[in-house]
Formats: sequence, C-alpha cells, structure tokens
Amino acid sequence: MSPTMIAPVVVEENNRYQKGVKHLCDNGLTKVPTKYIWPEPDRPIFTKSDKLTKPKQNLKLPIIDFAELLGPNRSHVLRTIAEACETYGFFQVVNHGMEGDVSRNMIEVCKKFFELPYEERSKYMTSDMSAPVRYGTSFNQNKDNVFCWRDFLKLYAHPLPDYLPYWPSSPSDFRSLAATYATETREMFEMMVKAIMESLEIDGDDNEAAKELKEGSQMVVVNCYPPCPEPELTLGMPPHSDYGFLTLLLQDDVEGLQILYRDEWVTIDPIPGSFVINVGDHLEIFSNGRYKSVLHRVLVNSTKPRISVASLHSFPLTSVVKPSPKLIDEHNQPQYMDTDFATFLQYISTREPKWKNFLESRKIHHL
Ligand code: OGA
Ligand code: NI
Repeated sequence: MSPTMIAPVVVEENNRYQKGVKHLCDNGLTKVPTKYIWPEPDRPIFTKSDKLTKPKQNLKLPIIDFAELLGPNRSHVLRTIAEACETYGFFQVVNHGMEGDVSRNMIEVCKKFFELPYEERSKYMTSDMSAPVRYGTSFNQNKDNVFCWRDFLKLYAHPLPDYLPYWPSSPSDFRSLAATYATETREMFEMMVKAIMESLEIDGDDNEAAKELKEGSQMVVVNCYPPCPEPELTLGMPPHSDYGFLTLLLQDDVEGLQILYRDEWVTIDPIPGSFVINVGDHLEIFSNGRYKSVLHRVLVNSTKPRISVASLHSFPLTSVVKPSPKLIDEHNQPQYMDTDFATFLQYISTREPKWKNFLESRKIHHL
C-alpha cells in the first residue's frame, strides 16, 4: 500500500467519531475508544471509585450580586470584580436580572436539541467556521489528534435578525427560546462592560472601546457532555482560554468546569441560576495585562449528562484590539501589540488550543 493511502478501516473509524459523542453513546458504549484517550499528564485525576480526587475543596469564586451594583455598595462591588479578574480571571454573578425561566428554558430546549435524531442535528454540521450555525464535536474536529468528549452547537447571535432565520427550526420552540436567551445575555453583557470599565477606572460612558463592544460579535455555544464510561481517561474540553472580551457561562447543576489557579486545576461549584463570567484574551489585552484570561477545561463523569451554554462576546471584526489608551502613560507601557481580529482568528485556527500561544505571541517584552 502506498504511504498516502489510508486503510479503509481507519477511514471508517474516523467517520464514526466525526458524528460526535452523543451519536457514539446512543449506539452503546462500555469503554472509551482510543481516539478519546488523553496522554496521562493531561488526564484528570480520579480515584478508583470514579470519584474525582480533590486536593482541596471546590473553589468558591467571588460572587457578585448584580443588584448591589445599582445601590450604595457599588464601589465595593467594583473592587470585588477587579480583584476577581486579577486573581482568578473568573467570578460568578447572581441577581443578574435574567428570569429563572429564561435560563431554565434555554437549558431544556438545548437538551431536547441534542436528543433529536442524528440526521436532524447533522443538518447543521459544517467545517465552515463562518457559518451562522455550526454543529460539531470535540474542539476542532478537523485537527484534533485526540478527541474531546463534547458535542457543540454554535450560533452567531449579533445582529440577531441576520442570523435567526438560520438557527435550528427543531425543536419547534428552539428559535424563540434561544433568541430571548441571546438578547437577555447581551443586555447582561452590556451592563457588565460598564462595570468592568469602571472597575478599571475608565469612564463607562465616554469611551471608544465600550461603543465598539456594543456592536461587537456574540456567539452562543451550547456544549453537550454525555456521560462517559471512563471519565478518568478523557476531557470534555482541553485547557484553553476564551478569545473574546468576556464569556457569560450558564451551566446546569452538574459540575465539570475547572480553572487553573496557582498551577492547580480547581472545580467551580455550580450555583443554580447564576452565571460564571470570565475574562477573555481581548480583555486581558485591553486591561494591559491587569485582568487575566485564565486557562480552563471541562471534566466529564460517568452518570450525568451535562449541558452548558457559553455566550462569547468580542470586539467587532473591524476593531484593533489593544491596551486601553487610558491605562497607558509614561509609567505604564503597553504590554501587548495592537492586533486586528482577522490576525487573531487566523492564528487560533492554525494552532493547537492548548496553552496561551496567542497572547504570548502578542506580548511586548520590554528591556
Ligand atoms: C467554553 C467553555 C465551559 C463549560 O465553552 O469555552 O469553557 O463548562 N465551557 O462548558
Ligand atoms: Ni472556555
């Protein structure tokens, strides 16, 4: 056989994995296929009883009560946000203004979407990264050597009327529930930007970046992590940082998200009805390195399916991402090069997601 020929059986195997983890599990599975087995140093650490070995308690992230931002405690809350973004790159938000029904309905309708027959879901499968809707599996299924235990549905969400007609038409209430969810998360994002700006001591109203972010892109990513027969061998998502400005994450009541804190992986306790907010690469650059875009990953478990919905908010494609001029003076030099979004996307689409290659490549090393 010539070296360029791939044995038909290998092609067959790969096709099987391209259809996603849900499809694989629906056909019965008692072991994790080799394709999903991560090298030992990258695996989570479980004890034999399938329980995660926890060196410490789960991490309690700082909790921001959004209602308090509107009251006399505003400056205290802003300081807590600043400390959380510096220390963890993450915080949780309660009293954020989104009705419980909106988030519960979103989780429920997403669950139903992933329970549709494969033929229905696969209508949205495409390798075109700019498609308004993209269904897929793993992290980058065209490049990953080892696959992740995750299927996803990515929806472009701004401007909503441009994209909504392309969103899944089944389940029948998907579009209306997901549209409400996307609109309300966007409102939450705008309030959050104002608070983040103020926490950096940048005037929230009179600033170019805040205006650009109002027109920025929004992508809603629904993640589906089916139960896994051997969760100690694989990952739901590999270590990565989010490329945008902020990510607003809604999780169901199943834990799985871990963040890197002081060189250790720590699990974030889900708080029902709350949002997990994290600093993305754009905000790390914008804050000139003060706020950290922190690596995080997802573990799976053997009993409970898990659904999460991440809303990723970024500067518009036309913006140049750079440290805020308001944070630069003779004592504070820019720590990052100016970057346009196209360069950014091109870089991340050609590199492994692991580690913070991109941010590292944009750092200016002052002598
Ligand atoms: C993401 C992400 C975490 C989760 O979608 O970028 O990190 O818990 N998700 O699913
Ligand atoms: Ni992420």
